[in-house]
Amino acid sequence: MSSPSPAFPTVAFIGGGNMARALIGGLRRGGMAAGRIIVSEPSAASREGLAAEFGVTATADNAEAAAAGEVWVLATKPQVLRGVCEALAPLAQARRPLVVSIAAGITSAQLDRWLGGGQAVVRSMPNTPALLGAGVTGLYATAAVGEAQRALAEALLRPAGETVWIADEALMDAVTATSGSGPAYVFLLAEAMQAAAAAEGLPAEAARTLVVETIAGAARMLKESGEPAATLRQRVTSPNGTTQAALEAFAAGGFMPLVAAAVHAARIRGAELSALND
Ligand SMILES: NC(=O)c1ccc[n+]([C@@H]2O[C@H](COP(=O)([O-])OP(=O)(O)OC[C@H]3O[C@@H](n4cnc5c(N)ncnc54)[C@H](OP(=O)(O)O)[C@@H]3O)[C@@H](O)[C@H]2O)c1
Repeated sequence: MSSPSPAFPTVAFIGGGNMARALIGGLRRGGMAAGRIIVSEPSAASREGLAAEFGVTATADNAEAAAAGEVWVLATKPQVLRGVCEALAPLAQARRPLVVSIAAGITSAQLDRWLGGGQAVVRSMPNTPALLGAGVTGLYATAAVGEAQRALAEALLRPAGETVWIADEALMDAVTATSGSGPAYVFLLAEAMQAAAAAEGLPAEAARTLVVETIAGAARMLKESGEPAATLRQRVTSPNGTTQAALEAFAAGGFMPLVAAAVHAARIRGAELSALND
């Protein structure tokens, strides 16, 4: 995992909620000085928590944080971001920060417009395992973002997990539908497997352990073997065996098209939400 260098510029987090905490925690563990991080956050309890846990400066004033930061991380909920950005537009024009947004569904063109235009914007989509440093983030940079700024954005997000650059912003809704919402798909599979195991007579606690460790182990095999999922699946499927019986039941129920329809629905909803915030 790459650590931010001592030369890392001051980073202002606008919004100090769950995702901001995950990113700040990652930066601090990577060795970034607390004095290089400032957070603006309306809740006094959250500000106290951020200051106590990470040693960072926390303020209620977005402009105060933004005035100190060469990098702005926009980490509020998408619904309030327009107002937040418009209030910061004069400062954005004066300072020309690198703007890194983690807000779902807000486009770089919206951000640029709300900030008065001409901004270097990186739009990113992390996911909740970022809270454990086990996330994955899709990143998109506008043409105004230079190489050094791309590296900065990546260094910011890298402590939260893997990063994947996306060349076409139109695909960011597909990123959201895949990895942003994706943890919920895996949790749904876990729920369904636990319920099925219980229906077959296993005690709930045993079912939970069997399911959780199966998913965690299979995920490690996927990651560490580097083999395609289909190859790993075929390897545990002996002809006319138990796994084949299960896979035939999945196919009969339309599992693959069902997953495709679910990811598609998430992508379409992402585009709709983006239009609502315009
Ligand atoms: N959680 C995820 O899985 C995930 C994944 C990818 C992207 N994201 C994106 O990350 C962003 C933050 O999500 P989150 O889960 O961290 O939400 P969150 O915990 O609600 O964090 C948002 C923070 O912004 C604060 N805030 C509200 N209005 C503000 C304002 N005007 N100025 C400054 N701060 C303000 C909120 O304070 P109060 O609570 O006091 O209102 C809250 O602490 C969202 O845009 C979301 O789309 C989240």
